[in-house]
Amino acid sequence: MSEHWWRDAVIYQVYPRSFADADGDGMGDLEGIRSRIPYLAALGVDAIWLSPFYASPQRDAGYDVADYRAIDPRFGDLGDFDRMLADAHAAGIRLIVDLVPNHTSSDHEWFQAALAAAPGSPERERYHFRDVTDPEVPPNNWQSIFGGPAWTKTDDGAQWYLHLFDSSQPDLNWDNPEVHEEFKSVLRFWLDRGVDGFRIDVAHGMVKAPGLPDTGGDGTIEMIGTTQAPFFDQDGVHDIYRTWRPIIEEYEGDRIFVAEAWTDSAERRSLYLRPDELHQAFNFDLVLAPFRAVDFRKAIDSEIANNAGVGAPCTWVLSNHDVQRHVTRYGGGERGLARAKAATQLLLSLPGVVYVYQGEELGLDEVLDLPAEVRQDPSFHRTGGEQIGRDGCRVPLPWAKEGVSLGFGPAGEPWLPQPAAWSDLSVEAEDGVPGSTLEFYRQAIATRKGHKATGLTWLADPGEDAFAFDNGALVAVVNFGDEPVPVAGYGTEVLLASADLADGHLPGGAAVWFAK
Ligand code: GLC
Repeated sequence: MSEHWWRDAVIYQVYPRSFADADGDGMGDLEGIRSRIPYLAALGVDAIWLSPFYASPQRDAGYDVADYRAIDPRFGDLGDFDRMLADAHAAGIRLIVDLVPNHTSSDHEWFQAALAAAPGSPERERYHFRDVTDPEVPPNNWQSIFGGPAWTKTDDGAQWYLHLFDSSQPDLNWDNPEVHEEFKSVLRFWLDRGVDGFRIDVAHGMVKAPGLPDTGGDGTIEMIGTTQAPFFDQDGVHDIYRTWRPIIEEYEGDRIFVAEAWTDSAERRSLYLRPDELHQAFNFDLVLAPFRAVDFRKAIDSEIANNAGVGAPCTWVLSNHDVQRHVTRYGGGERGLARAKAATQLLLSLPGVVYVYQGEELGLDEVLDLPAEVRQDPSFHRTGGEQIGRDGCRVPLPWAKEGVSLGFGPAGEPWLPQPAAWSDLSVEAEDGVPGSTLEFYRQAIATRKGHKATGLTWLADPGEDAFAFDNGALVAVVNFGDEPVPVAGYGTEVLLASADLADGHLPGGAAVWFAK
């Protein structure tokens, strides 16, 4: 055990609307999560990261917060939250909540007050308003991450307001001290309730370059990529975290911040992890990497080297609610699933923290054929379908082989339809079944607990598109290619293999751990 739990934890992302529905309205809720805590405990995770459950018009699935101190009635109330947190803690599971400081919902009382107030008023100073000079020409060329311009006019046509995401998500003005005070108070509200930390949404946002200058090119910036921009990864954002860190340190229990910071290098990402800033930052390099030994090795080396420089743990991720599920990224079908399991086993043997996105432990794939009329992601609608959006990784979990929502809820159609084939990927179908993805995850997480990595030393490659390393506790071999590679020289006692070895060979798209 390392001194700090968050240096080598396995953290499970719960996406509340799609995890478990207790009240049967077709959308998940906090009571549903509470009821499934025994499942998470059996999986062996150390903590939960919970995507937003705050009061929200749900125009961006809750990442549009109308009240940072209230629970959306669709998900329950503060009493439900307290009960869920208490049960998680009783099961030895910590709980990290999502904090969305870059923007509020347009339904937030601050934005409503801003619209009701005059240009130049203190109410408008909490956001980025600019006078309209030419109704056709916004103040700069910034484009919304979800498509279309990042500026929308107020109803009277007098001013523009900035929104890097949907027009219902106006950006807060972090030059305004009132915004700083409000978020410090929100942090305390949830810390006082007992949460173990915060995942910071768009943690590389918030601070904008002075004068809001144009970006290069046509103003289109991809967030899921590697970008620095006048509104992303500005150096000033670090000052905010230096004021937050002392607040979290005041509380007992080793609580943490984890950053969603898309930066253009592992080096820039590590700046968020300096000792007086945040504890973890998702490393999305493996989300972007093709399934190839050379790309994975490069991403791993770079993360380890840069994070060591600031004394922070590496933070490994393959899937979340914003990206295509990794089974599908790796080609789908049996091959995609085999590769996904191998990649997961690899992550679980790297030094650092591993995030698991709900449903990956069942081997769920991306739902690619959702009809347009059920899609809810604003990026789909704002681009006229050009961006397919993220609904395909947000389909409600299958808990049972049968039933209207495959056990997601007691009644009611789920808010997104589930593929019929998910009956075979349900918890009920996989629980206790040797060889199932669920049993593989359980075994992998349990084995990791007894074999915590203390470092990483590369060993000789077993083949062209394969690598091997010693993590101080075990020897791992991962085969990214399609042909079997010889692994007999790496060990004799197999601790875990994502696919059966044959004649001392590891099949293509597979991983194995040997005892040292
Ligand atoms: C983050 C969230 C994403 C959301 C966006 C705007 O990237 O993960 O789901 O749409 O921020 O809040």
